[in-house]
Amino acid sequence: PHAAARRPLAALLAASAGDARGVPYRSGGGAGGGSAGKVRPVSAARSASPAFLSPARDAAPAAPPTGNPAARVVLLPPPPRPLAVVGSINADLVARVARLPAPGETVTSPALATLPGGKGCNQAAAAGLLGWPTAMVGQVGGDGYGDMMLQALVGAGVDVACVRRAPSGVPTGTAIVLVDARGENCIVVCGGANTAPWPEEDADADAVIASAGLLLLQREVSDAVNTRAAAAAVAARVPVLLDAGGVDAPPPDALLSLVHTLSPNETELARLVGGGGGLREDDDAAVAAAASSLLARGPSRILVKRGARGAMLVTANAPPLLAPAFRVPRVVDTTGAGDCFTGAFAVAALRGLPAAAA
Ligand code: RIB
Repeated sequence: PHAAARRPLAALLAASAGDARGVPYRSGGGAGGGSAGKVRPVSAARSASPAFLSPARDAAPAAPPTGNPAARVVLLPPPPRPLAVVGSINADLVARVARLPAPGETVTSPALATLPGGKGCNQAAAAGLLGWPTAMVGQVGGDGYGDMMLQALVGAGVDVACVRRAPSGVPTGTAIVLVDARGENCIVVCGGANTAPWPEEDADADAVIASAGLLLLQREVSDAVNTRAAAAAVAARVPVLLDAGGVDAPPPDALLSLVHTLSPNETELARLVGGGGGLREDDDAAVAAAASSLLARGPSRILVKRGARGAMLVTANAPPLLAPAFRVPRVVDTTGAGDCFTGAFAVAALRGLPAAAA
C-alpha cells in the first residue's frame, strides 16, 4: 500500500480521472523530519520502463464502469517517480564587482552575500521548486554552513534524508563567486565535504537511486562516488544524466559508459573532444559534430548548454535539436543558470514531455 491509500476520496477520484500530478507525492517540505517529506522506493512503478525513456508511462489507467457506483474499482496510477540528485552542496560566498579582476589586480565589492549553491544542490532545488519529488544525496560538514544548506534544500522542497554529515573537522563545501555588472561570473570551489571521503556503503542512498525516475550527477564530487551511484541507477534501470561541469579532467570511461545523457556546456564540450578553445561556439554544425563524436563513448544523448544561444540535443539517429534561450531584459547573475536548466529539463522529462518541449 502506498500513500494514496490514505488520501480522501476526492483526491482518489481526481487521480482516477487522469490528474496524477494533482495528487501530492510528498507534503510541502517541513523542516527535515517526519515521513511526509521522505522519498520512498516506489515498488509499484518499478516494473514499468523509466519515465525518462518511455514518456507514455504516466497515462492513468481508466476505471472500468460498473452499474453500482459503490462497487466501483478505482485504479490509481503509480505515483510519480522521484528525481534523485547525487552531488555537491556549497555555501556560495558571493561578491558583486564592477568587473572581474585581472591577475594581480585588487577590486572591491560593496558587500559579501552567503547563498546556497553547489551544482548538485542547485539542480535539486530547481527540481524541488518546480514541485517534483526530489531527493538529494550529498555530504555537508558539521558547521553552520551545513545547517544553512540543509535548511535551504528543505525550503526548496527537497528530501534531505540522504544528506550526510562529514566526520568532524571536515567543512561544508564553499565557493567563492565573483559576479560582474553584466551578470558573468568567476568561481573557485573549495570541495570540503563534497570531495572528502563518502561512506563506502549507503543502503538508503542506493534505495533512493533505485526508486528514482532519473539520476542527476555533476562532477563536483569524486568520480568514484559518481560511478558507484551511476552503477546503482543502471542496475535498477534508472537513466543517468551527467552534467559535465565541475572539474577539468574528462570523466572516466567507466562513468561515461553508464550515462544516458551527457550535458556539457560549450567550454566543457571543447575540452571533452580535445579541441581546447578551438570550437566555434556560434557554429551550430561544429557544435553538433563535436557533441556527436561523444556518442561513441557511451551516452545516448548529448545535451549541450549554450548560454544565451540556448541548448542543443544531439542523438545518433536524428538531426540535432536546437532550443533557443529565453530572452531576459537584463542579466543579473548567471551563477547556477545551467543548473536551473538541468533541473528543469529533468523534471520536464520525468513529466513525460518530449525532448523539444523539455
Ligand atoms: O554552477 C554554479 C555553482 O557552481 C555555484 O553555486 C557554485 O557553488 C559552484 O558549484
